[in-house]
Amino acid sequence: MSSPYKLTQGQEITNVRKTLDITRKEFSDALGFSIEEEKTMKLWENDKEVIPKIIYNKIITFPTTPPLLPPTKESCRFTQIDLFAGIGGIRQGFQRHGGRTVFSSEWDKFAAKTYRINYGETPEGDITQIDVKDIPEHDILLAGFPCQPFSQAGLKKGFEDARGTLFFNIAEILRYKRPKAFMLENVKQLRGHDKGNTLKTILAILEELNYYVPTPEVLNAYHFGVPQNRERIIIVGFDKNCLPTDFKEFQYPNGNITNEICVGDILDAQVSDRFTISDKLYEGHLGRRKLHKEKGNGFGFCLFNANSKHTNTISARYYKDGSEALIEQEGKNPRMLTPRECARLQGFPEEFIIPVSNAQAYKQFGNSVCINVIEAVAKSMLDYLEQYNIL
Ligand SMILES: C[S@@+](CC[C@H](N)C(=O)[O-])C[C@H]1O[C@@H](n2cnc3c(N)ncnc32)[C@H](O)[C@@H]1O
Repeated sequence: MSSPYKLTQGQEITNVRKTLDITRKEFSDALGFSIEEEKTMKLWENDKEVIPKIIYNKIITFPTTPPLLPPTKESCRFTQIDLFAGIGGIRQGFQRHGGRTVFSSEWDKFAAKTYRINYGETPEGDITQIDVKDIPEHDILLAGFPCQPFSQAGLKKGFEDARGTLFFNIAEILRYKRPKAFMLENVKQLRGHDKGNTLKTILAILEELNYYVPTPEVLNAYHFGVPQNRERIIIVGFDKNCLPTDFKEFQYPNGNITNEICVGDILDAQVSDRFTISDKLYEGHLGRRKLHKEKGNGFGFCLFNANSKHTNTISARYYKDGSEALIEQEGKNPRMLTPRECARLQGFPEEFIIPVSNAQAYKQFGNSVCINVIEAVAKSMLDYLEQYNIL
């Protein structure tokens, strides 16, 4: 007689999913299941169908503890806060140098779920609702913040010009908490946003707060070891109260232009047909391309193969039709990149868990950063701070 306490296989696999607190659809996507397997998941969980051994093993060995836990309080080199955290790409770049996150904020529930499952922390919600006094002391502030115009543009009230924008919340934390340094990340277009006024106002406020802010730099992921053409503006700053009066100029990392990387580096050897785009979608792409060509503007969708040097920038809208980067296939319509391939294009490690649907995963990786770039910026910042014994 079997023990009354022994779980059935269905209960065991349900437990794995429940521990992760994700839906069957999300779990199927995370496991790379076919649509058929996704549909059968419920029957397996309810012991209505026998679970094939290969599937059972895949589920039972799925990691349920966060793979990217931060260093402990005792072992960390410095502390950081992660604002507009998304799925923690920026956090990881600094964590790799020993940073321990003491506060994070992200209001999107799906991104927060990916964050929790990978780092073991649930971020706080809307940053505008958080009292600055409740934010813990920290060494470095990190934020990949949404770009908004300043409604007070032209009034030149300095700090007050930012009120009502998300940048104001960052500025307020800098003012109250005085971290030793910060790193802000944004789209390259921030430079031209609102005729250059947005960036100008941001820099003026940061300087007014008594931070040394070197001229921001646009860095391209392709120069940092991944086959993606992705340019992002990085703004760093250092508290002048901590620097000597004759402080040196900060140097951003240059990266390295090499011909050794190509799209093939991040492609999976075998990809399910569910990523091949439908005839209807492909016809739509071809039709729009023809139209674009006739009007002489742009290329429409973009095709790449394993030998391409890099893809275009993966954006949050990639899930809609994949137009910025489709992969050629022999004798078939092109295919979308898989979420795991997008993760690699952003420098995420293989152990990073993707616990959301494919559509959400595309959004999350598109919104995130290339970790390699951030890791290099973090190194330059830490070298800079350490030469003055600031950390
Ligand atoms: C460009 S993404 C940053 C992604 C992040 N750097 C990463 O590596 O994944 C901006 C994020 O800010 C979040 N966000 C926007 N407004 C917010 C608010 N008021 N409070 C908290 N999060 C917010 C969005 O949900 C989005 O995930």
